[in-house]
Amino acid sequence: MQTLRATTSQTLETMASMAAEGNAGWRTLPPDAYCNPEIHALERERIFRAGWIAIGRADQAAEAGAYVTREILGEPIVMLRGNDGELRVFSNICRHRWMKLLEGTGRKAVITCPYHAWVYGLDGALRRAPEMEQHPDFDPATCALETVNHEIWQGFVYVNLDGRADALAPRLSDLDPRIAAYDLDTWVTADTVDCGIIPWDWKVMQDNGECYHHAGLHPQTFQDVFPGEEAGAVTGDEWSMLWTPARQEVLEKTGSGEAVMPGCYFTPLEGLDDFQRTNFLLIYVLPNFFIYLQPDCGLLIRVEPVEAGRSRMAADVLVPASARERPDYSEQLAAFTAFFNRFNDEDGPVNTAIQKALETGRAGQAPLSHLEAHNRHVAWWVSRKLTQDKTAAALAAE
Ligand code: FES
Ligand SMILES: [Fe+2]
Repeated sequence: MQTLRATTSQTLETMASMAAEGNAGWRTLPPDAYCNPEIHALERERIFRAGWIAIGRADQAAEAGAYVTREILGEPIVMLRGNDGELRVFSNICRHRWMKLLEGTGRKAVITCPYHAWVYGLDGALRRAPEMEQHPDFDPATCALETVNHEIWQGFVYVNLDGRADALAPRLSDLDPRIAAYDLDTWVTADTVDCGIIPWDWKVMQDNGECYHHAGLHPQTFQDVFPGEEAGAVTGDEWSMLWTPARQEVLEKTGSGEAVMPGCYFTPLEGLDDFQRTNFLLIYVLPNFFIYLQPDCGLLIRVEPVEAGRSRMAADVLVPASARERPDYSEQLAAFTAFFNRFNDEDGPVNTAIQKALETGRAGQAPLSHLEAHNRHVAWWVSRKLTQDKTAAALAAE
């Protein structure tokens, strides 16, 4: 039986009522929720371990033997393409005495543990374990790498650490038709920007997802072309999607004469409708997955919690496969990546200041504008996950 601090109980009580009334009061979470280690511990179990976490793109391990390692909630995992073409996700921990098997990214024919040289196949089976013949009942079949539950949605690879989550795809089926025309399955990861540890909570990052702050914080990077006050939003159960139309007077024309937003780095995709060509989209699959989407390129921004108020962030730069055929591909890719760095550099100091303010104890629960429907949704979603999916009694007993 765990006894929660009084402040934690109070925060959970506030969240329980926000969950029950659907955040009808349009308020942020209580500031304590962004910095309290007990709330963070609950989030790790009930949101991150129990849910689906985006770890990257399937094309990042495209060929047999190609692998990408990640550390999610401190747990080393590896996604790996087998000789049979299947993408698998394994625990990156040796079944002998727990050494980490692979580092970074690369390509291997087999996985050899750097400690005592046990060898695993790309399917995770233990192939060789030197000097184990004298063990009384050693059975290599019981020493395969542990599989981590994974699913691929629109080319994005997700893992579920506790192995008990319901399937992901049905949760996002109401989002699919909204982005089907982009055919994201076929896009490729052109680059990854590792932003390292960021000194703010993953929920501060979610809050920063609205477009209300374009006028204040991004006058040139966004507001001149995409006025924040024109932004729209729609929310599903597990996601929200925002869009901002480019101003009519700055619209450009595609090769076939259709209106398109300015700021495209590659050729806008065929088959998009008017709305998709003239708006940029922000799609948030909760909890940690952000897609920035233009008619010609996009970003997958992955934010993972490290501790209360600290996270790790990386951005995968995504392009339609056809973009790589352009003679100016490298320059245009560099320009798009520079654009990400520019707006991210504008957001970073603000998020840092906000986290500091939340930790002073002076910050209060804040009212949200109609342009912050996403923030309202996230506050409700987090509140629901922490207080409703299990009873209070079950929570206290954990
Ligand atoms: S820890 Fe991997 S072989 Fe010993
Ligand atoms: Fe921003």
